[in-house]
Amino acid sequence: MSLARIAGTGSYLPERVVTNSELEGRIDTSDEWIVSRTGIEARHVAADGELTSDLALQAARKALEAAGRGPGDVDLIIVATTTPDMVFPSTACILQSKLGVQQGAAFDVQAVCTGFIYALSVADRMVATGAHRCALVIGAEVFSRLLDWNDRRTCVLFGDGAGAVVVSRDEAHGILGTHLGADGSLGHILRVTGGIAEGAVRGNPFLEMDGQAVFRTAIRTLGESAQTVLQQTGLRARDIDWFVPHQANARIINALADRVGVPAERVVTTVARHGNTSAASVPLALDTAVRDGRIQAGETLMLQGVGGGMTWGSVLLRY
Ligand code: ACO
Repeated sequence: MSLARIAGTGSYLPERVVTNSELEGRIDTSDEWIVSRTGIEARHVAADGELTSDLALQAARKALEAAGRGPGDVDLIIVATTTPDMVFPSTACILQSKLGVQQGAAFDVQAVCTGFIYALSVADRMVATGAHRCALVIGAEVFSRLLDWNDRRTCVLFGDGAGAVVVSRDEAHGILGTHLGADGSLGHILRVTGGIAEGAVRGNPFLEMDGQAVFRTAIRTLGESAQTVLQQTGLRARDIDWFVPHQANARIINALADRVGVPAERVVTTVARHGNTSAASVPLALDTAVRDGRIQAGETLMLQGVGGGMTWGSVLLRY
């Protein structure tokens, strides 16, 4: 049976870095509070006029280069984002044009911080069946634009960035199992209610969050999702070489690794450097560990995301 394999990874972070000490000068917070509760030390923030598709473009070019592919090979683009450039066209279509891709399909997936896991699961089916040959799957966000920078409970947590993978067909290595979940009745614990209607923004354009409810939901749902995908594939926690979870918060990551049964030295954690970049977080962490040489071909990876909706999911793969 053919598998869909990650053939290359890439990522991009905007130039501007906002450290905790800079935030200390702007709002009533402290580096000590932020680091002890979240593990976050800094986040990147996009420049004025820098769009999600611009971040996605940089990450996509690097992933294509790593895979030894070019725009002429790509026949599917899926962008996971909560912060599209505009209502429509989709960010995937805008990216297609910026990349100079002139063939294939392009669409966005909206599952907030789980977006990349959802998008990769969709690409898995579309590539493994042979319907598409070379997919670009990207998580890209300018989450800084959904934040009230005077709200210390939320603004310290997030940042902007993009991560991308090229997915192509392979007979030996690839995605072994996926699991996706959602519970819309929990929508109120993490949301941005604002939308455009009759020429104006209706609802709150800033992120609202019940942090403790999100914390509990993330650990419960991802713990269960990990068990489901392991059972599906007949693998055990000790078969996981690298655990690449959503980078929301170091405490969530540590608690989750414990629950899944992966030792700390096998967990990829990048949240300190870029905060929570929503749909970009998993591919950003993946690319970091591929480029610094930790992740090697043939190793088994568990990728996981959780986010607004609430949504969650896991992808187990042989890299
Ligand atoms: N600096 C200083 N003090 C703060 C800050 C801050 N940045 N933020 C909140 N506080 C204060 C609160 O005002 C409160 O003070 P009070 O007792 O005087 O009212 C106190 O700290 C405790 O606030 P809590 O909200 O109870 O803090 P908690 O220990 O729950 O930590 C946190 C908050 C870090 C958000 C935690 O709930 C958490 O990690 N939740 C997970 C949420 C998350 O990671 N969200 C990311 C998006 S969701 C996702 O990606 C899945």
